[in-house]
Amino acid sequence: LANTAEPSDFSAFRAIAASSADAFEVPEGYAAKVIIGYGDQFANEDGTVLTYGFNNDFLAYFPLNGSDEGLLFINHEYPAPFFQHGVTAAASKTAAQVALEQESVGNSILHVKRGADGAWAVVSPSRYNRRITGAGPVHRFTGPLADNPAYPGIGETAAGSLANCSGGITPWGTALSCEENYQDYIGYGWTAARTGTPDYINGNGSDATTQPAKYGWVVEHDPYDPSFVGRKHTAPGRFRHENTAFRALANKPFVLYMGDDIANGGVYKFVSELPYRPGRREENLRILSSGKLYIAHWDPQSRRTFDAPGGTLTSPTSGTGYWREVAESELVDTNARIAANVGAAEFQLHYATNRPEDVEVDEDGTVYVALTNNSTANDTHGSIRRLREAANDPTSVGQSAQFTWEDYAPGGPSGRADEGEQGFSSPDNLVFDKAGNLWVVTDISSSVLNNPANPNAYHRNNAVFMLPRSGPNAGVAFRFANMPVEAEATGPYFTPDEQTLFINVQHPGEETPNKGGVYGNPQTYTSYWPKGSKTTGQNPSAPIPSLVAITKLPDVEPDPDGDGGT
Ligand code: FEO
Ligand code: CA
Ligand code: CA
Ligand code: CA
Repeated sequence: LANTAEPSDFSAFRAIAASSADAFEVPEGYAAKVIIGYGDQFANEDGTVLTYGFNNDFLAYFPLNGSDEGLLFINHEYPAPFFQHGVTAAASKTAAQVALEQESVGNSILHVKRGADGAWAVVSPSRYNRRITGAGPVHRFTGPLADNPAYPGIGETAAGSLANCSGGITPWGTALSCEENYQDYIGYGWTAARTGTPDYINGNGSDATTQPAKYGWVVEHDPYDPSFVGRKHTAPGRFRHENTAFRALANKPFVLYMGDDIANGGVYKFVSELPYRPGRREENLRILSSGKLYIAHWDPQSRRTFDAPGGTLTSPTSGTGYWREVAESELVDTNARIAANVGAAEFQLHYATNRPEDVEVDEDGTVYVALTNNSTANDTHGSIRRLREAANDPTSVGQSAQFTWEDYAPGGPSGRADEGEQGFSSPDNLVFDKAGNLWVVTDISSSVLNNPANPNAYHRNNAVFMLPRSGPNAGVAFRFANMPVEAEATGPYFTPDEQTLFINVQHPGEETPNKGGVYGNPQTYTSYWPKGSKTTGQNPSAPIPSLVAITKLPDVEPDPDGDGGT
């Protein structure tokens, strides 16, 4: 691998083999260190004790002092009652158990610093340290549906935030946290009778003109301002928001690209009414409150389709498309209402995609979409699709402005024999490094990984891959890190100097309750990470979703022949 651009500690490494070990594995010459995990405490400047939440997902680094000290904005996607208190039946939970769950979702804002020894640690107490949970503080709605009598289920405010999957940043220094699988909370027993908190959540296909719709939005926070009131923006619609990826041109409308993470969900873009003005933060903080939402209409068809699971591709791998405007009345339950308005067959043919997870925008404006997999299209391994706007103008909309698209990197076995190069499956989060390499983390579901007939046997545990996009190895996926048993890598994020890669480890050992695990008896758990290892039997202990910092060890030269180990 040629390190073609600016120096980075992550542009050349020796790819590692696929693994089923209960361990977080990185290439020789790198160190992976847990910074904080679920249940660990930190404090704000008043001494208020804060607890790091469950199932960390999105993370972003906001500098305080370059790449050595900053704030990490982190999502906590969903709780795991089995590991938190042992009671999985919603009706049997005590109020305290429900409160524990509610307080374990939302966001953490963590002040972190790299010490003289090179190791990252949480700075505590700190005025920046903060938690946002499923119970509070109060967030305010913005945009056309806020406090709008046509949508009485929304109102002016919501208590807290939940289902925070991935997210994004803005060029004015805020974080966008995406509320994704809000419908899953119906079964959690978070009811008014038990907790005093209204059960706000309505399911897919629900109608927010008759039911509350407090969750399922893009939520903006200012990590630098502890007094900032979170903003739930209604203009970018309400769907299973995976993440946001922006394109900002000075004095032009601001554009956000977004995926709807549901099988046959659409790809969206928001175009602001106000222009983006570099350096004018107060004005830019109003940008997401007004604008128009669009959904991608793909030609000749939207889904990548196979004749059988693991079979032959039967659909085109490139085409054109355009952005169809989403009406205000469709924003509240975006997917269901668009499908109803265009018709189910039309939606399936031209709007439905193979479950869009992360979307990222390359330096040149090309939009990359991780289509993770889709059983209704027999798509076992997913792919990464890219889209180029008409005239490279992100504000292009309507049928007269055609974008072009192509399936860039397919998941599935690569056919390559070399260790660590056998291919990726089920892409989820994406990130680019400064050299232009595309980093991909995988999210093969644990139930599939544990199936003996598993089509991902070649792949083993979920992993982190780097794909060079130029040179002789363009498009080859090189395995950089392996996750512990039944875990997914989320939130990959480089510090600006690319000397550190932060990764969140989500849901290690998540199949424990389905595989006979007994609460309080760690020997029966499927993962002991990070305190022990199921593979070696060392230190049986509950698995803990945790934040990891990966850095290069100082005294090792991992690539003596300069070919990146390839
Ligand atoms: Fe929460 Fe789309 O993954
Ligand atoms: Ca995801
Ligand atoms: Ca996923
Ligand atoms: Ca996940």
